[in-house]
Order: sequence, then structure tokens, then C-alpha cells
Amino acid sequence: VRSRVLGVAATALAITALTAGSGAAAPVTAPAAGDGAPGQGDPYFPLAGNGGYTVRHYDLDLAYDPSTRRLDGHAAITARATHGLRAFDLDLSGLRVTGVRVDGRTAHWTRHGQELVIEPARTLRRGAAFRVDVAYGGVPEQVTDPDGSPDGWIATDDGAFVAGEPQGAMSWFPSDNHPLDKASYSFEITVPSGYTAVANGVLTSRRTSRGETTFRWRQSRPMASYLATATVGKFDVQQYTTRSGIPVYNAVDPREAKGAAPALAKIPDILDWETKLFGPYPFSAAGAIVDHAPDVGYALETQTRPIYDRAPDVGTVVHEMAHQWFGDSVSLTSWQDIWLNEGFATYAEWLWQEQHGGRSAQASFDHYYALPASDGLWAFPSADPGDGAHIFASPVYTRGAMTLQELRDAVGDRAFLTILRTWARDHRYGHGTTAQFVALSERVSGKDLATLFHTWLYTAGKPARP
Ligand code: ARG
Ligand code: ZN
Repeated sequence: VRSRVLGVAATALAITALTAGSGAAAPVTAPAAGDGAPGQGDPYFPLAGNGGYTVRHYDLDLAYDPSTRRLDGHAAITARATHGLRAFDLDLSGLRVTGVRVDGRTAHWTRHGQELVIEPARTLRRGAAFRVDVAYGGVPEQVTDPDGSPDGWIATDDGAFVAGEPQGAMSWFPSDNHPLDKASYSFEITVPSGYTAVANGVLTSRRTSRGETTFRWRQSRPMASYLATATVGKFDVQQYTTRSGIPVYNAVDPREAKGAAPALAKIPDILDWETKLFGPYPFSAAGAIVDHAPDVGYALETQTRPIYDRAPDVGTVVHEMAHQWFGDSVSLTSWQDIWLNEGFATYAEWLWQEQHGGRSAQASFDHYYALPASDGLWAFPSADPGDGAHIFASPVYTRGAMTLQELRDAVGDRAFLTILRTWARDHRYGHGTTAQFVALSERVSGKDLATLFHTWLYTAGKPARP
């Protein structure tokens, strides 16, 4: 979620970009026979992800030196070919590749922008499991998103803030960089001792020798590449297990510790509250990374352990933790559907307020509905941001949450909660589309909701008072 301070500026930026109207995304080049496509076909990010294979596991062995900002990496990727492949791509931007092997044999490779094109010594058969090893290194360059925000491996004064939505993963490891292809991860991150390296999932070991500490982390549930982190800093670490048995690991920059303490103290309550509302927590670890970062202007729901660019307030923690159900466990198939992440996480904030002595979700709806038709909130409908420059603008977040309030109003509280829980359960560790959410809502409620969703998700302008 945007840091509150930057929210207004970000919205203004989005609107300027909208009226400037860059339209058509470049088409994904069709692959030559026997080659994997350079993209997954996402209209907003045509080169994100790749065709021809799916990844099962990323094993990332990284070493980072905060004083030189140099990253050295070795990625061992296990995958399965979905086509016969003479060549296939991984997404990687910047850095220097020093060697590629496929199934242990040296492979030929070239770089074209963000595409690392790999030609294995032997053609991969359709259905074959294979392993790719990529050795690489250099000073990572952050990615600039279409909306101008920085993304990826972002150096700080004491390490790096690492957050990859939507494209930044390619700045620090080679991947099939689209949420369609989720995989499990293991991380082995070596930093000078005194620094802490924090990734997703559970910490399996931490060893110091000869002035270096190696942290091993494991995320065994499927994860989209944009949700991976390997954040490095001089952190205070807090570890405990909640009463419901979930290990919490918080890494906090001491300069943010005082400001972050009240919201971080609520993590167990938020976990329990969201579990009651949305169903079982999808992961076996939780926590937070609170950095003292350069101007990033957002927090991200990095899987199991959201990352904050400054001390968060409770609402922001509620938001990022709600994403663990909506966005992380249930993933997008296309960036156009981003309201399924942001509208839901924003609605979770509204519900938290409603149930913790704040205004009702209906009052939040009314507050935003009062904004004039000229406001950026009405610049486009929630499920049609138009391009990658608008996926984090207020029509996705706030109007997305308003859509859910309209749904709740139409079907009643019981059916509404059943819809949210069934969504989280039926698509757990997988994917969901807007069309599937609409169909589920109609099935659970027994109502025809076509007009409601058509108006709020797909019709330009401020909807008429319901
Ligand atoms: N998904 C994040 C949130 O919780 C926002 C990420 C914004 N990323 C960016 N590159 N601007 O709202
Ligand atoms: Zn969000």
C-alpha cells in the first residue's frame, strides 16, 4: 500500500499519465518453432514471464556486500518443459551472467534487454523435468515501473530494501517473472556479520564464520516471483510464536523501532482476526520487515513477511497481512485483475476499522462516494486500469473496496463473508480471475449481480448512487 504521505502525489501522477494515454502494449513476439516465448502474454507487461516451461523451485544462493553494493548470485532452478524447447528465456535485468548450465551441461546464452535467452546443449522434450544453473553478479539496478516508482533490489545506507511488484524480481535473480508461474523457494544469503538477511518463510539456519553470516530461509508454499525478498540491513530481530502456533519473525531498522512498535505488537491479533474472517492462514510463518529506506513510497505484501519502507500504522499492517490470503495465496493470472489484490486488502482495512471502534465500511464508502466526478478515484473502472502505469492508483484500491461494499450491501453480511472465505479456500495456493469471482458471488448469493459488477468494475466514470 502507498505510504499515506505519498498517496496524493502518486494519484496525481497516475492521472497525468492516463490523460497522456500511452495505449497499446507491444505484442509478444511469437516464438519460433521449438522456442519458448519471451513473455506470458500479459497485455500490461508483455515481456514478464516466459513461455514453454513452468518452474517448480528456485534455490537462490546470494552474497551481498552493503559497502560495495555488489551482489553475487547462483540460481538453481528446477522446471518442467511444457513444449519441446530448443531455447527458452528467463527474465533478468542488469547484472552480469558468468555461466549457464542446463542439466549440468554448459548452455549457450545471450541477453536481449530483460530476456536471458538460453539454448541448452540438447533440446528439452515436452514434459521433461530439467534444471538450470545461472551464475551472475554485479551491482543490481532497480527497475523503474511504468508509474515511475522504484522496484526490485533497492540499495539503502545499510543494505538493501528488496520488493518486486510488479517486475522487480528480475533485478536480483533470473526467473519466470509473472504471477502465473508460482514456485517454492529456498534462499541462502551471506552478508558481513552484523547484518541480517531476511527472506520469505522460515529461517532454517544462521551461521557465522570468518566475519560472514549465512542465513537460510525456506518458503515451501507456491510463491510468485514479485513476492520474494532478500532484504539486508542492520536490524533488531524479534522472534516469537503466536498462541495459534505461527512463528513470527520481525526485522526492524532501529531508527524505525519506536514508531513501528505499536503496529507490530498487533500482528498476533491481526492474524487471528483475519483468520476468523477469511479462513485458515495460508502460510506457516509470519512477521514484518521495517526498513529505513530511500524514497520508495510503498509497502509490499512479500509472502509471509510484508516489507514496510518506514514504521507502518495498524491499517497498513492489516492491509499487507490481508494480502497473504488475497494476492499471495490466491494469485492474479493477469495484472489487469489487480483489484482482486488491492480492493480486497483495502476492504480488510475498512472492516478492521468497523470492528475496532472506527467508522463502518459503509461510512468509508460514503466518504469516498462524496468525492466529485472529477476526482482521480473515478478516472477508470477498477478492473480496467488500461495499462501497467495505473495498477496502483486509487480506482484499483478505493473503488475496488467500494465494489466489495456494494457487493456486501447487495447480498448481505452472511453471504458476503461466505464469498470471501470460499474464494480464499477454493483458490488457495493457486490463481483466481475476476470472472471467477463474479461467478462465485452469484452462485453463493443466488442473485444476478451482472449490473453491479459491470458498473463498478468495467464502466468508466462515477457510478450513479445505488
Ligand atoms: N501491493 C502493494 C500494496 O500493498 C503496493 C506495491 C506498489 N508497488 C510499486 N512498485 N509501486 O499496496
Ligand atoms: Zn496492497
